[in-house]
Amino acid sequence: MRAMTVIPGKSDSARVGAVAEPPAADGSILVQGLLTGICGTDLELLAGALGRVQPGSDHLVIGHESLGQVLEAPAGSGFTAGDLVAGVVRRPDPVPCPACARGEWDFCRNGQYTERGINGMDGYGAERWRVDPYFAVPVPAVLGHLGVLVEPTSILAKAFEQVDRVGARSWFDPKHVLVTGAGPIGLLATLIAQQRGYDVHVLDRVTDGPKPELVRALGGTYLTDLQQLDVVPDVVIEATGVGQVVFDCANLLPPAGVICLAGIHPGPATVDVQLDALVRQLVVRNAALVGTVNAGKRHYADAVDMLLKADRAWLERLVTRTVPLSNWPAALVREPDDIKVVVDLRG
Ligand code: BGC
Repeated sequence: MRAMTVIPGKSDSARVGAVAEPPAADGSILVQGLLTGICGTDLELLAGALGRVQPGSDHLVIGHESLGQVLEAPAGSGFTAGDLVAGVVRRPDPVPCPACARGEWDFCRNGQYTERGINGMDGYGAERWRVDPYFAVPVPAVLGHLGVLVEPTSILAKAFEQVDRVGARSWFDPKHVLVTGAGPIGLLATLIAQQRGYDVHVLDRVTDGPKPELVRALGGTYLTDLQQLDVVPDVVIEATGVGQVVFDCANLLPPAGVICLAGIHPGPATVDVQLDALVRQLVVRNAALVGTVNAGKRHYADAVDMLLKADRAWLERLVTRTVPLSNWPAALVREPDDIKVVVDLRG
């Protein structure tokens, strides 16, 4: 069968590879791959910033944002042929560490976890894939192709949960949320902020194209410069990973404010900062900077609920380009106005 293959760290290695049928060891549910979303992590994989092949293999089947349709599922698995399904990305480490042993693989302590399509495990970018029922997320049929957004949305479901948990240190009733970066992660953060009833402001560099309009369609305020922000943000969802942006936001935080760092930037960039002054700011304001990565099982379920609540026409506009599997490396080349690019595994 055909699959999206790469050699981690080799920028020109993206191929339509011929690979073996998915091994039974990958799980008892056999799935017809429908769509795979491309994200910054996939580009970093090719650039060599992260990622590794499955032991014994010389290439990696990429693709961690998945949507498929069940071909075969054992009785009692909770799935039947025809169901839509998304696969969980991370697998617990084999030791397992105390977090993984409790099902919190997204908080793995020893770093020996694996991730489908990223770290040590073939991904979902193939005509067929297998998954264990425990790591299979049911996608309601009404979501259709938008089910490919379940995984990126799970990242934000976790991010907002982390903010709530940090906020619970004290009385916490956020009103103003700043989202930095209006890519797929930033826009999905904007959606969730709107669903939670927050006043949301979104910072990005671009002045035209679909992003400003997508923010305004949710009732949000679009900014191209932090100077334009006319409220004090109780919460920042940071999706650029740019040090200067993080530093500027940290200086804006009110008492008990929270910045949730949800993105990384290829960098490295050097920023001259008054670190002692920043430390003082954070301390005297009980402010928090919290990093978040990946997602646990409950976040995928939350993501499905969030997508079901969203305006379908708005979600449709996030998927700006669909590339057939036969030409999938084109999905890695950024085009103006790209938001979420997906690969059609049947094409
Ligand atoms: C994925 C996460 C993953 C991370 C780092 C992200 O793009 O959405 O699930 O943990 O990359 O590998």
